[in-house]
Amino acid sequence: MQGVSDYAIYLLDPDGHVTNWNLGAQRIKGYNPGEIIGQHFSQFYTEEDLAEDLPRRALDEARRTGRFEKEGWRVRKDGSRFWANVVIDAIPDDDNRIIGFAKVTRDITEKKEAQRQLEQAREELFHSQKMEVIGQLAGGMAHDFNNLLMAILGSLELLKRRIPNAPDTARLLANAVAGAERGAALTQRMLAFSRKQELKVEAVDIPELVGGMVEMLRRTLGSTIAVQTKLSSDLPAVLCDPNQLVSAILNLSINARDAMPGGGELLIGAIERAVAKGTMPNLAPGRYLCLFVKDGGEGMDKDTLEKATTPFFTTKGVGKGTGLGLSMVQGMVAQSGGHLNLISSVGQGTTAELYLPLATGVADFSHETAQTVDPTSSIALKILAVDDDPLILINMVMMLEDLGHSVIDATSAQKALDLFACNDFDVVVTDHSMPAMTGSELARQLREVRPDLPIILASGYADLPPGSMAEPVRLTKPYSEDQLRKAIESATGVVR
Ligand SMILES: Nc1ncnc2c1ncn2[C@@H]1O[C@H](COP(=O)(O)OP(=O)(O)OP(=O)(O)O)[C@@H](O)[C@H]1O
Ligand SMILES: [Mg+2]
Repeated sequence: MQGVSDYAIYLLDPDGHVTNWNLGAQRIKGYNPGEIIGQHFSQFYTEEDLAEDLPRRALDEARRTGRFEKEGWRVRKDGSRFWANVVIDAIPDDDNRIIGFAKVTRDITEKKEAQRQLEQAREELFHSQKMEVIGQLAGGMAHDFNNLLMAILGSLELLKRRIPNAPDTARLLANAVAGAERGAALTQRMLAFSRKQELKVEAVDIPELVGGMVEMLRRTLGSTIAVQTKLSSDLPAVLCDPNQLVSAILNLSINARDAMPGGGELLIGAIERAVAKGTMPNLAPGRYLCLFVKDGGEGMDKDTLEKATTPFFTTKGVGKGTGLGLSMVQGMVAQSGGHLNLISSVGQGTTAELYLPLATGVADFSHETAQTVDPTSSIALKILAVDDDPLILINMVMMLEDLGHSVIDATSAQKALDLFACNDFDVVVTDHSMPAMTGSELARQLREVRPDLPIILASGYADLPPGSMAEPVRLTKPYSEDQLRKAIESATGVVR
Protein backbone atom coordinates (compact mmCIF):
# COMPACT_ATOMS: atom_id res chain seq x y z
CA MET A 1 0.00 0.00 0.00
CA GLN A 2 2.85 2.32 0.81
CA GLY A 3 4.10 2.11 -2.78
CA VAL A 4 0.76 2.90 -4.52
CA SER A 5 1.05 6.33 -6.15
CA ASP A 6 -2.26 6.70 -8.06
CA TYR A 7 -4.35 6.74 -4.89
CA ALA A 8 -3.88 8.42 -1.56
CA ILE A 9 -4.30 5.57 0.96
CA TYR A 10 -3.86 6.25 4.65
CA LEU A 11 -5.26 5.32 8.05
CA LEU A 12 -6.97 7.46 10.66
CA ASP A 13 -7.31 6.77 14.39
CA PRO A 14 -10.91 6.68 15.77
CA ASP A 15 -10.80 10.51 16.27
CA GLY A 16 -9.63 11.26 12.74
CA HIS A 17 -5.90 11.78 13.20
CA VAL A 18 -3.63 10.53 10.43
CA THR A 19 -1.64 7.46 11.51
CA ASN A 20 0.18 6.57 8.28
CA TRP A 21 0.67 8.06 4.80
CA ASN A 22 1.46 6.44 1.46
CA LEU A 23 3.29 7.67 -1.65
CA GLY A 24 0.02 8.51 -3.46
CA ALA A 25 -1.12 10.68 -0.55
CA GLN A 26 2.19 12.50 -0.64
CA ARG A 27 1.89 13.02 -4.41
CA ILE A 28 -1.74 14.12 -4.45
CA LYS A 29 -1.87 16.24 -1.28
CA GLY A 30 1.72 17.50 -1.17
CA TYR A 31 2.58 16.66 2.50
CA ASN A 32 5.39 14.25 3.43
CA PRO A 33 4.68 11.73 6.22
CA GLY A 34 6.65 13.66 8.86
CA GLU A 35 4.47 16.77 8.35
CA ILE A 36 1.10 15.11 8.44
CA ILE A 37 1.12 12.03 10.69
CA GLY A 38 -0.61 12.94 13.95
CA GLN A 39 -2.55 15.84 12.34
CA HIS A 40 -6.35 15.81 12.03
CA PHE A 41 -7.66 14.88 8.56
CA SER A 42 -10.09 17.82 8.53
CA GLN A 43 -7.30 20.05 7.21
CA PHE A 44 -7.80 18.52 3.73
CA TYR A 45 -11.32 20.00 3.59
CA THR A 46 -12.40 23.36 2.18
CA GLU A 47 -13.62 26.14 4.44
CA GLU A 48 -17.16 25.70 3.13
CA ASP A 49 -17.16 22.00 4.01
CA LEU A 50 -15.62 22.73 7.42
CA ALA A 51 -18.38 25.22 8.11
CA GLU A 52 -20.85 22.41 7.50
CA ASP A 53 -18.92 20.06 9.77
CA LEU A 54 -18.44 17.61 6.92
CA PRO A 55 -15.32 15.79 8.30
CA ARG A 56 -17.12 14.83 11.50
CA ARG A 57 -20.28 13.82 9.67
CA ALA A 58 -18.23 11.68 7.28
CA LEU A 59 -16.63 9.75 10.17
CA ASP A 60 -20.01 9.40 11.90
CA GLU A 61 -21.53 7.89 8.79
CA ALA A 62 -18.60 5.50 8.33
CA ARG A 63 -18.92 4.50 11.99
CA ARG A 64 -22.66 3.89 11.63
CA THR A 65 -22.82 2.16 8.26
CA GLY A 66 -19.24 0.97 7.86
CA ARG A 67 -18.56 3.17 4.83
CA PHE A 68 -18.70 6.77 3.55
CA GLU A 69 -18.24 7.72 -0.12
CA LYS A 70 -18.49 11.13 -1.72
CA GLU A 71 -17.02 13.45 -4.34
CA GLY A 72 -16.00 17.00 -3.49
CA TRP A 73 -13.29 19.65 -3.45
CA ARG A 74 -10.23 19.00 -1.27
CA VAL A 75 -7.29 21.26 -0.47
CA ARG A 76 -3.61 20.49 -1.14
CA LYS A 77 -0.75 21.65 1.06
CA ASP A 78 -0.14 24.65 -1.26
CA GLY A 79 -3.77 25.72 -0.87
CA SER A 80 -4.85 24.67 -4.40
CA ARG A 81 -7.99 22.59 -4.81
CA PHE A 82 -8.63 19.30 -6.55
CA TRP A 83 -11.83 17.36 -7.18
CA ALA A 84 -11.66 14.17 -5.16
CA ASN A 85 -13.43 10.87 -4.92
CA VAL A 86 -13.21 9.91 -1.25
CA VAL A 87 -13.98 6.55 0.40
CA ILE A 88 -13.74 6.09 4.17
CA ASP A 89 -14.02 2.54 5.57
CA ALA A 90 -14.44 1.91 9.29
CA ILE A 91 -12.07 -0.71 10.74
CA PRO A 92 -13.66 -2.78 13.55
CA ASP A 93 -11.79 -5.10 15.93
CA ASP A 94 -12.98 -8.59 16.87
CA ASP A 95 -15.51 -7.14 19.29
CA ASN A 96 -16.88 -4.80 16.61
CA ARG A 97 -15.37 -1.70 18.22
CA ILE A 98 -14.11 0.89 15.70
CA ILE A 99 -10.34 1.09 16.02
CA GLY A 100 -9.77 3.45 13.10
CA PHE A 101 -10.57 4.28 9.48
CA ALA A 102 -9.00 3.48 6.13
CA LYS A 103 -9.22 6.38 3.71
CA VAL A 104 -8.77 6.21 -0.06
CA THR A 105 -8.72 9.46 -2.06
CA ARG A 106 -8.51 9.75 -5.83
CA ASP A 107 -7.80 12.97 -7.74
CA ILE A 108 -10.44 13.05 -10.49
CA THR A 109 -10.16 16.73 -11.42
CA GLU A 110 -9.38 15.90 -15.05
CA LYS A 111 -12.25 13.47 -15.34
CA LYS A 112 -14.64 16.02 -13.91
CA GLU A 113 -13.38 18.68 -16.31
CA ALA A 114 -13.78 16.31 -19.27
CA GLN A 115 -17.31 15.55 -18.12
CA ARG A 116 -18.08 19.26 -17.80
CA GLN A 117 -16.82 19.90 -21.32
CA LEU A 118 -18.86 17.01 -22.66
CA GLU A 119 -21.99 18.35 -20.99
CA GLN A 120 -21.32 21.82 -22.33
CA ALA A 121 -20.80 20.48 -25.86
CA ARG A 122 -24.03 18.52 -25.56
CA GLU A 123 -25.91 21.59 -24.41
CA GLU A 124 -24.50 23.70 -27.24
CA LEU A 125 -25.43 21.06 -29.78
CA PHE A 126 -28.94 20.85 -28.38
CA HIS A 127 -29.24 24.63 -28.48
CA SER A 128 -28.06 24.87 -32.07
CA GLN A 129 -30.40 22.07 -33.15
CA LYS A 130 -33.26 23.83 -31.45
CA MET A 131 -32.36 27.10 -33.16
CA GLU A 132 -32.16 25.33 -36.50
CA VAL A 133 -35.69 23.96 -36.10
CA ILE A 134 -37.10 27.27 -34.90
CA GLY A 135 -35.32 28.96 -37.79
CA GLN A 136 -36.92 26.65 -40.33
CA LEU A 137 -40.31 27.13 -38.77
CA ALA A 138 -40.01 30.91 -38.56
CA GLY A 139 -38.54 31.12 -42.06
CA GLY A 140 -41.33 29.02 -43.56
CA MET A 141 -44.01 30.98 -41.78
CA ALA A 142 -42.48 34.31 -42.65
CA HIS A 143 -42.24 33.26 -46.29
CA ASP A 144 -45.95 32.47 -46.49
CA PHE A 145 -46.91 35.57 -44.55
CA ASN A 146 -44.78 37.66 -46.81
CA ASN A 147 -46.77 36.45 -49.79
CA LEU A 148 -50.08 37.17 -48.09
CA LEU A 149 -48.98 40.65 -47.03
CA MET A 150 -47.74 41.23 -50.53
CA ALA A 151 -51.22 40.52 -51.88
CA ILE A 152 -52.84 42.71 -49.22
CA LEU A 153 -50.49 45.65 -49.66
CA GLY A 154 -50.56 45.50 -53.43
CA SER A 155 -54.34 45.36 -53.59
CA LEU A 156 -54.70 48.20 -51.09
CA GLU A 157 -52.36 50.30 -53.14
CA LEU A 158 -54.40 49.72 -56.29
CA LEU A 159 -57.64 50.25 -54.42
CA LYS A 160 -56.39 53.59 -53.13
CA ARG A 161 -56.29 54.89 -56.67
CA ARG A 162 -59.60 53.48 -57.79
CA ILE A 163 -62.01 54.62 -55.14
CA PRO A 164 -63.18 58.19 -54.77
CA ASN A 165 -61.03 60.20 -52.44
CA ALA A 166 -63.29 60.59 -49.43
CA PRO A 167 -61.38 61.46 -46.22
CA ASP A 168 -63.00 58.59 -44.31
CA THR A 169 -62.08 55.86 -46.74
CA ALA A 170 -58.60 57.33 -47.15
CA ARG A 171 -58.04 57.06 -43.42
CA LEU A 172 -59.25 53.49 -43.30
CA LEU A 173 -57.05 52.57 -46.23
CA ALA A 174 -54.02 54.27 -44.69
CA ASN A 175 -54.72 52.34 -41.50
CA ALA A 176 -54.90 49.04 -43.36
CA VAL A 177 -51.66 49.82 -45.19
CA ALA A 178 -49.91 50.77 -41.94
CA GLY A 179 -51.05 47.51 -40.34
CA ALA A 180 -49.89 45.41 -43.25
CA GLU A 181 -46.57 47.27 -43.33
CA ARG A 182 -46.02 46.52 -39.65
CA GLY A 183 -46.69 42.89 -40.43
CA ALA A 184 -44.21 43.03 -43.27
CA ALA A 185 -41.55 44.54 -40.97
CA LEU A 186 -42.15 41.69 -38.54
CA THR A 187 -41.79 39.03 -41.21
CA GLN A 188 -38.57 40.72 -42.32
CA ARG A 189 -37.21 40.28 -38.79
CA MET A 190 -38.29 36.66 -38.79
CA LEU A 191 -36.59 36.10 -42.13
CA ALA A 192 -33.49 37.79 -40.74
CA PHE A 193 -33.46 35.49 -37.74
CA SER A 194 -33.85 32.40 -39.89
CA ARG A 195 -31.08 33.75 -42.16
CA LYS A 196 -33.40 33.71 -45.13
CA GLN A 197 -33.71 37.37 -45.97
CA GLU A 198 -31.97 38.60 -49.02
CA LEU A 199 -28.91 40.61 -48.02
CA LYS A 200 -27.60 43.29 -50.33
CA VAL A 201 -23.99 42.96 -49.30
CA GLU A 202 -21.49 45.69 -50.09
CA ALA A 203 -18.37 47.32 -48.68
CA VAL A 204 -19.55 49.54 -45.84
CA ASP A 205 -17.65 52.33 -44.12
CA ILE A 206 -18.63 51.98 -40.47
CA PRO A 207 -17.67 55.49 -39.21
CA GLU A 208 -19.72 56.97 -42.03
CA LEU A 209 -22.70 54.68 -41.43
CA VAL A 210 -22.73 55.18 -37.66
CA GLY A 211 -22.00 58.90 -38.00
CA GLY A 212 -25.05 59.20 -40.22
CA MET A 213 -27.21 57.54 -37.55
CA VAL A 214 -26.26 59.61 -34.53
CA GLU A 215 -28.83 62.37 -35.03
CA MET A 216 -31.60 59.88 -35.66
CA LEU A 217 -30.55 57.90 -32.55
CA ARG A 218 -30.56 61.02 -30.36
CA ARG A 219 -34.07 61.83 -31.51
CA THR A 220 -35.33 58.26 -31.14
CA LEU A 221 -33.78 57.53 -27.76
CA GLY A 222 -34.66 60.83 -26.12
CA SER A 223 -32.70 63.37 -24.14
CA THR A 224 -31.95 61.11 -21.16
CA ILE A 225 -29.63 58.92 -23.24
CA ALA A 226 -26.25 60.42 -24.11
CA VAL A 227 -25.17 58.92 -27.43
CA GLN A 228 -21.37 58.77 -27.79
CA THR A 229 -19.25 57.29 -30.55
CA LYS A 230 -15.68 56.06 -30.60
CA LEU A 231 -14.67 55.56 -34.19
CA SER A 232 -11.32 56.31 -35.73
CA SER A 233 -11.61 57.30 -39.36
CA ASP A 234 -9.00 54.78 -40.61
CA LEU A 235 -11.10 51.70 -39.82
CA PRO A 236 -11.26 49.17 -42.66
CA ALA A 237 -14.55 48.74 -44.52
CA VAL A 238 -16.71 45.72 -43.73
CA LEU A 239 -18.82 43.50 -45.91
CA CYS A 240 -22.51 43.61 -45.02
CA ASP A 241 -25.92 44.93 -45.95
CA PRO A 242 -25.92 48.59 -44.80
CA ASN A 243 -29.70 48.81 -44.36
CA GLN A 244 -29.78 45.71 -42.24
CA LEU A 245 -26.83 46.95 -40.21
CA VAL A 246 -28.62 50.22 -39.51
CA SER A 247 -31.66 48.35 -38.27
CA ALA A 248 -29.41 46.08 -36.15
CA ILE A 249 -27.73 49.08 -34.51
CA LEU A 250 -31.13 50.67 -33.94
CA ASN A 251 -32.40 47.47 -32.30
CA LEU A 252 -29.37 47.31 -30.02
CA SER A 253 -29.68 50.99 -29.13
CA ILE A 254 -33.34 50.63 -28.21
CA ASN A 255 -32.46 47.63 -26.03
CA ALA A 256 -29.82 49.81 -24.36
CA ARG A 257 -32.33 52.59 -23.76
CA ASP A 258 -34.81 50.12 -22.26
CA ALA A 259 -32.06 48.87 -19.94
CA MET A 260 -31.41 52.43 -18.70
CA PRO A 261 -34.86 53.68 -17.62
CA GLY A 262 -33.26 56.47 -15.62
CA GLY A 263 -31.05 57.53 -18.52
CA GLY A 264 -27.34 56.99 -19.11
CA GLU A 265 -24.66 56.69 -21.74
CA LEU A 266 -24.79 54.69 -24.94
CA LEU A 267 -21.44 54.15 -26.61
CA ILE A 268 -21.11 52.94 -30.19
CA GLY A 269 -17.61 52.17 -31.41
CA ALA A 270 -15.52 49.83 -33.50
CA ILE A 271 -12.07 48.28 -33.41
CA GLU A 272 -10.25 45.92 -35.71
CA ARG A 273 -9.64 42.51 -34.16
CA ALA A 274 -7.83 39.35 -35.16
CA VAL A 275 -9.75 36.20 -34.30
CA ALA A 276 -7.59 33.14 -33.72
CA LYS A 277 -8.76 29.64 -34.46
CA GLY A 278 -11.19 28.30 -31.87
CA THR A 279 -11.41 31.50 -29.79
CA MET A 280 -14.84 32.53 -31.04
CA PRO A 281 -17.33 29.80 -31.68
CA ASN A 282 -19.00 30.03 -35.09
CA LEU A 283 -16.34 32.35 -36.43
CA ALA A 284 -13.66 31.46 -38.96
CA PRO A 285 -10.19 32.70 -37.97
CA GLY A 286 -9.19 35.97 -39.59
CA ARG A 287 -9.42 39.73 -39.20
CA TYR A 288 -12.75 41.32 -38.35
CA LEU A 289 -14.14 44.66 -37.44
CA CYS A 290 -15.75 44.48 -34.02
CA LEU A 291 -18.59 46.98 -33.89
CA PHE A 292 -19.87 47.38 -30.34
CA VAL A 293 -22.91 48.95 -28.73
CA LYS A 294 -22.34 49.42 -25.00
CA ASP A 295 -24.69 50.59 -22.29
CA GLY A 296 -24.34 51.09 -18.55
CA GLY A 297 -27.80 49.73 -17.85
CA GLU A 298 -29.18 47.05 -15.59
CA GLY A 299 -27.48 44.20 -17.47
CA MET A 300 -28.65 40.61 -17.70
CA ASP A 301 -28.34 37.66 -15.34
CA LYS A 302 -26.89 34.40 -16.66
CA ASP A 303 -30.27 32.92 -17.50
CA THR A 304 -31.53 35.96 -19.43
CA LEU A 305 -28.22 36.26 -21.27
CA GLU A 306 -28.47 32.64 -22.40
CA LYS A 307 -31.97 33.14 -23.75
CA ALA A 308 -31.61 36.70 -25.06
CA THR A 309 -31.11 35.73 -28.70
CA THR A 310 -33.90 33.13 -28.69
CA PRO A 311 -36.70 34.33 -30.94
CA PHE A 312 -39.71 35.68 -29.07
CA PHE A 313 -37.81 35.73 -25.78
CA THR A 314 -38.54 39.02 -24.07
CA THR A 315 -38.69 40.30 -20.51
CA LYS A 316 -40.54 43.41 -21.57
CA GLY A 317 -44.10 42.35 -21.00
CA VAL A 318 -47.01 41.81 -23.35
CA GLY A 319 -47.26 44.31 -26.18
CA LYS A 320 -43.93 45.97 -25.38
CA GLY A 321 -41.30 43.73 -26.96
CA THR A 322 -41.59 41.08 -29.64
CA GLY A 323 -38.37 39.39 -28.56
CA LEU A 324 -37.17 39.38 -32.15
CA GLY A 325 -34.63 42.23 -31.93
CA LEU A 326 -31.57 40.25 -30.93
CA SER A 327 -32.64 37.23 -32.99
CA MET A 328 -32.68 39.48 -36.02
CA VAL A 329 -29.27 40.92 -35.21
CA GLN A 330 -27.77 37.50 -34.63
CA GLY A 331 -29.25 36.04 -37.81
CA MET A 332 -28.17 38.96 -39.95
CA VAL A 333 -24.61 38.99 -38.61
CA ALA A 334 -24.23 35.23 -38.97
CA GLN A 335 -25.58 35.33 -42.51
CA SER A 336 -22.96 37.97 -43.29
CA GLY A 337 -20.18 35.65 -42.12
CA GLY A 338 -19.80 37.33 -38.73
CA HIS A 339 -20.85 36.71 -35.15
CA LEU A 340 -22.85 38.40 -32.40
CA ASN A 341 -21.19 38.30 -28.98
CA LEU A 342 -23.12 39.52 -25.94
CA ILE A 343 -21.29 40.47 -22.75
CA SER A 344 -23.47 41.29 -19.78
CA SER A 345 -23.90 40.85 -16.06
CA VAL A 346 -26.34 42.27 -13.55
CA GLY A 347 -25.60 45.88 -12.69
CA GLN A 348 -22.60 46.01 -15.02
CA GLY A 349 -24.38 46.99 -18.24
CA THR A 350 -24.32 45.21 -21.57
CA THR A 351 -22.00 45.23 -24.56
CA ALA A 352 -23.16 43.76 -27.85
CA GLU A 353 -20.25 43.04 -30.18
CA LEU A 354 -20.87 42.50 -33.88
CA TYR A 355 -17.93 40.81 -35.56
CA LEU A 356 -18.14 41.73 -39.23
CA PRO A 357 -15.87 40.40 -41.98
CA LEU A 358 -13.55 42.95 -43.59
CA ALA A 359 -14.21 43.95 -47.17
CA THR A 360 -10.54 43.92 -48.19
CA GLY A 361 -9.82 42.04 -51.33
CA VAL A 362 -13.44 41.12 -51.91
CA ALA A 363 -15.05 42.51 -55.00
CA ASP A 364 -18.10 44.65 -54.49
CA PHE A 365 -20.91 42.52 -55.88
CA SER A 366 -23.73 44.67 -54.66
CA HIS A 367 -24.77 46.40 -57.82
CA GLU A 368 -27.04 44.65 -60.21
CA THR A 369 -26.10 44.69 -63.83
CA ALA A 370 -28.73 46.53 -65.76
CA GLN A 371 -29.45 45.27 -69.21
CA THR A 372 -30.47 47.66 -71.87
CA VAL A 373 -33.01 47.02 -74.57
CA ASP A 374 -33.45 48.91 -77.76
CA PRO A 375 -34.20 52.44 -76.50
CA THR A 376 -36.47 53.03 -79.48
CA SER A 377 -38.84 50.33 -78.29
CA SER A 378 -42.20 51.48 -77.05
CA ILE A 379 -42.44 52.46 -73.41
CA ALA A 380 -45.46 50.25 -72.84
CA LEU A 381 -43.79 46.88 -72.54
CA LYS A 382 -45.05 43.42 -73.18
CA ILE A 383 -44.42 41.54 -69.99
CA LEU A 384 -44.58 37.87 -69.02
CA ALA A 385 -45.56 37.56 -65.34
CA VAL A 386 -44.87 34.25 -63.59
CA ASP A 387 -45.88 33.13 -60.09
CA ASP A 388 -47.27 29.84 -58.80
CA ASP A 389 -49.40 31.68 -56.23
CA PRO A 390 -52.53 33.00 -57.99
CA LEU A 391 -53.06 35.69 -55.31
CA ILE A 392 -49.64 37.15 -55.96
CA LEU A 393 -49.96 36.71 -59.70
CA ILE A 394 -53.21 38.67 -59.93
CA ASN A 395 -51.64 41.37 -57.86
CA MET A 396 -48.50 41.51 -59.99
CA VAL A 397 -50.53 41.62 -63.21
CA MET A 398 -52.68 44.45 -61.90
CA MET A 399 -49.67 46.46 -60.82
CA LEU A 400 -47.99 45.98 -64.18
CA GLU A 401 -51.15 46.95 -66.03
CA ASP A 402 -51.49 49.94 -63.78
CA LEU A 403 -48.01 50.95 -64.89
CA GLY A 404 -49.27 50.86 -68.47
CA HIS A 405 -47.77 47.58 -69.66
CA SER A 406 -49.53 44.70 -71.34
CA VAL A 407 -49.21 41.49 -69.43
CA ILE A 408 -49.59 37.79 -70.02
CA ASP A 409 -49.49 35.59 -66.94
CA ALA A 410 -48.27 32.06 -66.26
CA THR A 411 -48.72 30.00 -63.10
CA SER A 412 -45.63 27.86 -63.62
CA ALA A 413 -42.20 28.03 -65.21
CA GLN A 414 -43.21 25.43 -67.79
CA LYS A 415 -46.24 27.48 -68.85
CA ALA A 416 -43.97 30.50 -69.06
CA LEU A 417 -41.59 28.65 -71.38
CA ASP A 418 -44.50 27.59 -73.60
CA LEU A 419 -45.81 31.16 -73.76
CA PHE A 420 -42.33 32.48 -74.42
CA ALA A 421 -41.94 30.17 -77.43
CA CYS A 422 -44.82 31.80 -79.30
CA ASN A 423 -44.75 35.38 -78.03
CA ASP A 424 -42.28 38.21 -78.14
CA PHE A 425 -41.83 39.59 -74.63
CA ASP A 426 -39.82 42.64 -73.60
CA VAL A 427 -39.49 41.66 -69.95
CA VAL A 428 -40.09 38.62 -67.76
CA VAL A 429 -41.01 39.08 -64.08
CA THR A 430 -40.92 35.81 -62.19
CA ASP A 431 -41.18 34.51 -58.65
CA HIS A 432 -38.17 32.52 -57.55
CA SER A 433 -39.54 29.76 -55.29
CA MET A 434 -41.86 27.66 -57.42
CA PRO A 435 -42.31 23.90 -57.42
CA ALA A 436 -41.00 21.85 -60.36
CA MET A 437 -38.82 24.66 -61.73
CA THR A 438 -37.50 27.70 -59.87
CA GLY A 439 -37.48 31.22 -61.24
CA SER A 440 -33.67 31.13 -61.49
CA GLU A 441 -33.78 27.98 -63.60
CA LEU A 442 -36.48 29.56 -65.78
CA ALA A 443 -34.28 32.65 -66.17
CA ARG A 444 -31.34 30.47 -67.20
CA GLN A 445 -33.38 28.65 -69.85
CA LEU A 446 -34.85 31.88 -71.19
CA ARG A 447 -31.40 33.42 -71.41
CA GLU A 448 -30.24 30.44 -73.50
CA VAL A 449 -32.79 31.49 -76.08
CA ARG A 450 -32.37 35.25 -75.61
CA PRO A 451 -29.17 36.18 -73.75
CA ASP A 452 -30.15 39.87 -73.48
CA LEU A 453 -33.66 39.30 -72.14
CA PRO A 454 -34.42 41.58 -69.17
CA ILE A 455 -35.52 39.37 -66.28
CA ILE A 456 -36.70 40.31 -62.79
CA LEU A 457 -36.56 37.69 -60.06
CA ALA A 458 -38.86 38.35 -57.11
CA SER A 459 -38.21 36.62 -53.84
CA GLY A 460 -38.71 37.10 -50.14
CA TYR A 461 -36.00 34.55 -49.59
CA ALA A 462 -32.24 34.56 -49.71
CA ASP A 463 -32.29 31.30 -51.57
CA LEU A 464 -31.37 32.85 -54.87
CA PRO A 465 -28.19 31.36 -56.31
CA PRO A 466 -25.16 33.68 -56.48
CA GLY A 467 -25.32 36.05 -59.38
CA SER A 468 -23.55 35.67 -62.67
CA MET A 469 -22.65 38.39 -65.14
CA ALA A 470 -26.07 38.67 -66.73
CA GLU A 471 -27.68 38.50 -63.31
CA PRO A 472 -31.42 39.08 -63.26
CA VAL A 473 -32.58 42.15 -61.38
CA ARG A 474 -33.81 41.14 -57.96
CA LEU A 475 -36.95 42.32 -56.28
CA THR A 476 -37.60 41.66 -52.61
CA LYS A 477 -41.13 40.69 -51.61
CA PRO A 478 -43.29 42.36 -50.58
CA TYR A 479 -42.73 45.10 -53.13
CA SER A 480 -44.71 48.21 -53.92
CA GLU A 481 -45.76 49.32 -57.37
CA ASP A 482 -43.00 51.88 -57.26
CA GLN A 483 -40.35 49.28 -56.48
CA LEU A 484 -41.68 47.14 -59.31
CA ARG A 485 -41.46 50.14 -61.67
CA LYS A 486 -37.85 50.79 -60.62
CA ALA A 487 -36.94 47.15 -61.09
CA ILE A 488 -38.33 47.25 -64.63
CA GLU A 489 -36.41 50.43 -65.31
CA SER A 490 -33.19 48.95 -64.07
CA ALA A 491 -33.73 45.72 -66.04
CA THR A 492 -34.59 47.41 -69.29
CA GLY A 493 -32.96 50.79 -69.01
CA VAL A 494 -36.31 52.31 -69.95
CA VAL A 495 -37.40 55.20 -67.77
CA ARG A 496 -41.09 55.91 -67.65
N1 LIG B 1 -28.89 46.06 -23.51
C1 LIG B 1 -29.59 45.21 -22.77
N2 LIG B 1 -29.56 45.28 -21.41
C2 LIG B 1 -30.29 44.44 -20.65
N3 LIG B 1 -31.06 43.46 -21.15
C3 LIG B 1 -31.14 43.32 -22.49
C4 LIG B 1 -30.41 44.18 -23.37
N4 LIG B 1 -30.65 43.80 -24.63
C5 LIG B 1 -31.50 42.76 -24.56
N5 LIG B 1 -31.81 42.46 -23.28
C6 LIG B 1 -32.69 41.38 -22.81
O1 LIG B 1 -32.88 40.45 -23.87
C7 LIG B 1 -34.28 40.35 -24.18
C8 LIG B 1 -34.43 40.10 -25.67
O2 LIG B 1 -34.03 41.26 -26.42
P1 LIG B 1 -34.63 41.47 -27.89
O3 LIG B 1 -34.07 42.71 -28.43
O4 LIG B 1 -34.42 40.21 -28.66
O5 LIG B 1 -36.17 41.60 -27.64
P2 LIG B 1 -36.97 42.80 -26.93
O6 LIG B 1 -36.10 44.01 -26.85
O7 LIG B 1 -37.54 42.27 -25.67
O8 LIG B 1 -38.13 43.04 -27.98
P3 LIG B 1 -38.02 43.81 -29.39
O9 LIG B 1 -36.56 44.03 -29.67
O10 LIG B 1 -38.63 42.88 -30.37
O11 LIG B 1 -38.78 45.05 -29.20
C9 LIG B 1 -34.88 41.64 -23.68
O12 LIG B 1 -36.26 41.50 -23.40
C10 LIG B 1 -34.05 41.90 -22.42
O13 LIG B 1 -34.49 41.12 -21.35
MG1 LIG C 1 -35.04 44.71 -28.59
